[in-house]
Amino acid sequence: MRLPPGYCNGAGWVPRIGDIFPDLDARTTQGPIRFHDWAEGRWTVLFSQPGAFTPVCSTELAGLAEIAADLDRRGVQVIGLAPDTVADLTAWCVDVSVMFGNPVRFPMISDPDGAIARACGMTHPKESPDLPIRKTLILDPALRVRMVFEYPLRVGRGTDEILRVLDALQERDRLDVAIPGDWQPGDPVLVPVGLSDDEADIRFGAGGWRALRRYLRVLAPAIGDRVGGTVALRQPCTH
Ligand code: BEZ
Repeated sequence: MRLPPGYCNGAGWVPRIGDIFPDLDARTTQGPIRFHDWAEGRWTVLFSQPGAFTPVCSTELAGLAEIAADLDRRGVQVIGLAPDTVADLTAWCVDVSVMFGNPVRFPMISDPDGAIARACGMTHPKESPDLPIRKTLILDPALRVRMVFEYPLRVGRGTDEILRVLDALQERDRLDVAIPGDWQPGDPVLVPVGLSDDEADIRFGAGGWRALRRYLRVLAPAIGDRVGGTVALRQPCTH
């Protein structure tokens, strides 16, 4: 793994939002990859797991296989990482495909000595001395880390939230807006912090947004339509 010098602080690198994910050479269930060549140019979900042929991990693999069409529609590719051999990961992917009825088509990185997991902050000694935790990174097409999720060993991830965050990030980039809490596709979006009212008028049109408070400005649906098809406003209470 090729970590930039600024990423090494003695304790290894812990991926943070905004970092460019470092390049690495890896063995996967679909052959060797050079990560940047594989990931650049598409949105990527990279997730770590503590091990093949284990219960929670199997359900997570099945969940990601089940949403393959949803990920394709969003232009998103998936790659996993676990501390197992390529042979074991391959056999496990086949078994999960048979058991749950959805083919696991994405590659799994084999990291039997844990070198990649340690270098990427995927191990948490208080959760397990050696196994990777359930870490999920969303990388944009420029290889920049845009989202980091961490789950403990005994709690599996939810694919709904992964899809929601992918939609939110893509909407944020498409319209240059801010995305409210609990947003779902079809909900209103916000004028981002740092934009003055005059700047908001220029970007979204006068009358294209309204202020619920000075600090909370909501885009009107017509603006969304004009700048690319965003959505109607969820009505806030009026006081
Ligand atoms: C699981 O998938 O259930 C699991 C795997 C490794 C350690 C703990 C839990």
